[in-house]
Amino acid sequence: NLLDIIIDQNVDIDGFGACGGTLSCSTCHLIFDKANYDSLPNKVTEEEQDMLDMAYELSDTSRLGCQIV
Ligand code: FES
Repeated sequence: NLLDIIIDQNVDIDGFGACGGTLSCSTCHLIFDKANYDSLPNKVTEEEQDMLDMAYELSDTSRLGCQIV
């Protein structure tokens, strides 16, 4: 599950999900490796991308954790 991914990726989860999944922060920003990114069940929406653009250290395989279903 997602928490396992967070732990696997050694993401600092301090303050993770500050906005409670309402797409108004980027504290749930996750950087996946390519294989994991490609296997995520849903793709980035326009709203998610807008918020991702403000995330620290945005990468090609970045997602907002709260938007992964
Ligand atoms: Fe704020 Fe995901 S928890 S955008």
